[in-house]
Amino acid sequence: MIDKKDQIKERLGNVLVRSDLNVPILNNKVADKFRISKSIEIIEKIYEDSRTITFISHLGRPKKKDSNLSLRNITDTISELLRNENLTFIENIYGPDVNNLIKSKKSKIFLLENLRFYEGEINNDLEFSRKVTKPFDTYIFDAFGASHRSHASVVSFGNYIKSYQGPLMNRELEELNKILENKKSGYSVLLGGAKISDKLGLIENLLPKVENLLIGGGMCFTFLKALGYEIGNSLVDYSFIEKARSLLDSKYANKIILPEDFGVTKSIESKKRINVSIENFSKEHIGVDIGLETIKIFSKLLSSSKYIFWNGPMGIFEIDEFSTGTREITKIISESQAYTSVGGGDSVSAINLFSDIKKFNHISTGGGASLEYLEGKKLPGVNIYKSLII
Ligand code: 3PG
Repeated sequence: MIDKKDQIKERLGNVLVRSDLNVPILNNKVADKFRISKSIEIIEKIYEDSRTITFISHLGRPKKKDSNLSLRNITDTISELLRNENLTFIENIYGPDVNNLIKSKKSKIFLLENLRFYEGEINNDLEFSRKVTKPFDTYIFDAFGASHRSHASVVSFGNYIKSYQGPLMNRELEELNKILENKKSGYSVLLGGAKISDKLGLIENLLPKVENLLIGGGMCFTFLKALGYEIGNSLVDYSFIEKARSLLDSKYANKIILPEDFGVTKSIESKKRINVSIENFSKEHIGVDIGLETIKIFSKLLSSSKYIFWNGPMGIFEIDEFSTGTREITKIISESQAYTSVGGGDSVSAINLFSDIKKFNHISTGGGASLEYLEGKKLPGVNIYKSLII
C-alpha cells in the first residue's frame, strides 16, 4: 500500500521544466546569474511533489553543437545556488542516456543539453517533441523569455504529457499586465538602449496609457534627427525616422520627453567626454550619454511618478566616463517611492553595477518576449497550458 506521502510525491512524477537559462557566458563562465536564480526557484515549490526535476533550456543561437554554448557551462552556477542538492548534467536531451540517468537515483535534479543543438527544436518537430518528453510524466513551461518563439519546447512538448504553465511565467505575465493595464496617474515609462527597432511597437502601444515617456540611450537620436537636430555621428536608424516623426506629430507628442543635453565625445576610444546642449551638438560629436540637465529633468519626473517601467540604459554605461546618466537614473529609480518594474538584460546589468536588485519591485527575466508582449502581441507560448497551482 502506498502511504499518503508517497502518493503526493508521485503527483508530478518525473518533471521536465522548460526554463530560460540563456545567460551571458564569458570564458565558459556565467557572467550574470539573474535568470538562473529566478528559474530554479521552482525547485522549492515542486520538490515534495516530484520524483525528479529535469531542466531543459536553450543557450544562445548555435547553428550546430558548440562547447561554448553547452549548458554544462552553467552547471557550477546552478550547483552553487542549490547549495545542498546535487545536480547531474546529461550531455543529451533524449534517448537511453536520459532515460537511464533519470531512473538511476543519481540525483533528484538534472540538467539536459542545449535544446538548440537539435534542429527539431527550431523546426518545431513533433517526433523530436515526443522523444524528448518520453521519460517524463509532467511538463512545466516556465520559460517566459522564450515564449515569443514557435519552437518545439514552447508549443509542442505539451502535446505528449500532462502540462502546466509554471510560476515564473505566471509572475511575469502578472507584472507585464500591470504595465499594459495601468490606469493610475503618475505612470512613467523610461526607455533607452541602442536599438529603436525593438521598441517602437511598445512605444505605440504604451503611449496612450502613460503620463510621461522618457527616451534616452542611443535610440533617442532617431527622434532628434526626425525633429531636424544636428546629432553628429550619433547612432541613428534612418528606416525609423518617418515613424518617429509621426509619433512626434501625434496627439501624444507632449508625453514624449527627449534629452536636452548630452555627454558627447569625438571618439569612443579616447573616452573623453564633454557636456553639450542639443543646440551645440556639432558634426564631429557622438552622443554617448544623456547630459547633466537631462538627468535633472528625468529625475524630477521619475521622482514624482507612482509607477515606473524602465527598459534600456541611458548611454554606453560599460565605459566609466560615459556612465553618469545610467548610474544616476538607476539610483533615482531605485530610491523612488514608485512601484518599479524593469525589463531588459542591460538594465539588469546596470542595476547590478550601480544599485541593488532588491530595491526594485519587479525585474523581468524576459528580453525580446517582454518587449513583444508589451507591444500587445499574442505570444505563442503564453497561456497555452493551465497554471500549476502549488
Ligand atoms: C532572450 O535572451 O531574450 C531569450 O532567451 C530568447 O532568446 P532568443 O532571442 O535567442 O530566442
